[in-house]
Amino acid sequence: MFSVLSDDTMFRRFLRSQKNLTRDDAEEMLRLDDADVTSLIAIAAKDDVEQAVGEARYVADPTGKMAEAAAVVSDEWQNRGLGSALFTDLVAEAKRKGLARMFAYFDVENKSIIHLGQKFGFRLASKDRGTDYSVMKAEITL
Ligand SMILES: CC(C)(COP(=O)(O)OP(=O)(O)OC[C@H]1O[C@@H](n2cnc3c(N)ncnc32)[C@H](O)[C@@H]1OP(=O)(O)O)[C@@H](O)C(=O)NCCC(=O)NCCS
Repeated sequence: MFSVLSDDTMFRRFLRSQKNLTRDDAEEMLRLDDADVTSLIAIAAKDDVEQAVGEARYVADPTGKMAEAAAVVSDEWQNRGLGSALFTDLVAEAKRKGLARMFAYFDVENKSIIHLGQKFGFRLASKDRGTDYSVMKAEITL
């Protein structure tokens, strides 16, 4: 999926300009046997070929109570409700596992995730790293 994402979608997901996944990103995405990582993948079949078209994940901190969330939907599937569906299931799974809070970083121009975040009850939070004013943080109490 990542190899076909537009530059804009890659930027909004990873908060930096890059055409492809870095090795570190790829290792992070594949850290699925780690108990701290919960990853939901949306798969679509086209001409009998299945391919990932979206992913939402959270990574819990060592307390198991707080987690950072991130999501991406491939360009041709955006604005068709897939991100909402993934977030619904991600939040439900986080609650089921007993997480207390979830937060996410996003680009200040990212209208789609701002809208989605508001829909799910995320509220703007104070930032706890650097002074990059183009990156915002929002969090939700589960
Ligand atoms: C953010 C993202 C995951 C959302 O996925 P999606 O499948 O497009 O989400 P949905 O279709 O469920 O919902 C998008 C919502 O944003 C709204 N939206 C889209 N563009 C918008 C804009 N410019 N201004 C306001 N709202 C906008 C849509 O109307 C929709 O709202 P609705 O459900 O009330 O109709 C997807 O856009 C994406 O992958 N973006 C790049 C990566 C990213 O930004 N990740 C988040 C940071 S980790």
